[in-house]
Amino acid sequence: MIRINFVNLVTSNSTMNKHIGILTAGGDSPGLNAAIRGIGKTALGIYNMQVTGFMDGFRGVMENRSIRMSGDNLSGILTLGGTILGTSRDKPNKMQVGGKVMDMTDVIVENYHKQHLDALVCIGGGGTQKNAFHLMKQGMNVITLPKTIDNDVCETDVTFGFDTALGIAVEAIDRLHSTADSHHRIIIVEIMGHNTGWLALGAGVSGGADVILIPEIPYDIDLVAESILKRERAGKHFSIVAISEGAISKESAQKMDILGKREEKETDDKEKQKTIQKELKNYRKKVIGNTMQLAKELEQLTLVESRVTILGHLQRGGIPSAYDRLLATRLGTACAEYLQNEQFGIMVAARGDGVEPVPLEKVVGKRKIVPLDHPWLECARRVGTCMGD
Ligand code: F6P
Repeated sequence: MIRINFVNLVTSNSTMNKHIGILTAGGDSPGLNAAIRGIGKTALGIYNMQVTGFMDGFRGVMENRSIRMSGDNLSGILTLGGTILGTSRDKPNKMQVGGKVMDMTDVIVENYHKQHLDALVCIGGGGTQKNAFHLMKQGMNVITLPKTIDNDVCETDVTFGFDTALGIAVEAIDRLHSTADSHHRIIIVEIMGHNTGWLALGAGVSGGADVILIPEIPYDIDLVAESILKRERAGKHFSIVAISEGAISKESAQKMDILGKREEKETDDKEKQKTIQKELKNYRKKVIGNTMQLAKELEQLTLVESRVTILGHLQRGGIPSAYDRLLATRLGTACAEYLQNEQFGIMVAARGDGVEPVPLEKVVGKRKIVPLDHPWLECARRVGTCMGD
């Protein structure tokens, strides 16, 4: 009760200059600094707000580790990869503290009030949207921005970080072509993307991969081998297979009902969601090394020598592409305007060339997967790419 009165007291005086917090959470991705700069420069320069940056995601708010953002530390960061604020995968309600997992929500809410914040901007992917929503339900004013190289956040056309990672994966595929061709090999390139295929599909189509395997389409290894043998018969003695880290064979998908579980996870039943999440986590542990296994099996089935390249965190590092800088700046500067207008509880989504505020409850607990009728899939098939089905 007391806390609610306090929130009202702080936010009701809209003529006062506002004090906002910013944090970056989840896996880092190119464009985070461009977003921090966009929010910070607009908030300071146009709206005369006070801006505080919290270190290492939600942990920084819990531990009250913050820095005052100014023209100085917001300058020269547009082209930097990573995040000047640091990040972590810590969740407010499940944080490792002194060797124990604890619910630190109350401490975060308390620190938010102690700092006299009017709002907290949380920049992150699906997990961060959920954590921000959780804090919103505790009375905090939050606004989120969608970032992740996976591009799997709902209700936004695209997330920042995706374009840069896509460029890195495409460059890798381009380079792997010449070595695969010279040695007459199959090269399997594993691409990030968590449980969605946006990165592998986009990179596979742009890089001209011969086979693209994504989580949304469980693959039949015999069909993949046959497509490679078909190329061999046509005189093409090398093949590039772009595989998403979350791709699964038809066999395991059926055995463990993975697709069914991924769909069921979108339920509103929290307990059911937890159980399914645990099962999927266990499954992910089991599939580590799947790509190596696939290489071995393809070599046996085709008698073509195979090699594996796992791109891993290379896809998250380095300078953001022009597209990501532009997108992050668009979302960040618009975010400052929403803060000024006290439009809270929203994610700033990308819509065409503009932005749109989307209520957080429409975003959380959902994942944007590749629809089976997506134009990228259609064009991959049209140019003869094997999708493993
Ligand atoms: O969500 C971004 C991402 O890079 C995924 O593509 C990948 O599965 C995951 O993060 C890796 O996480 P971490 O950096 O914690 O190992």
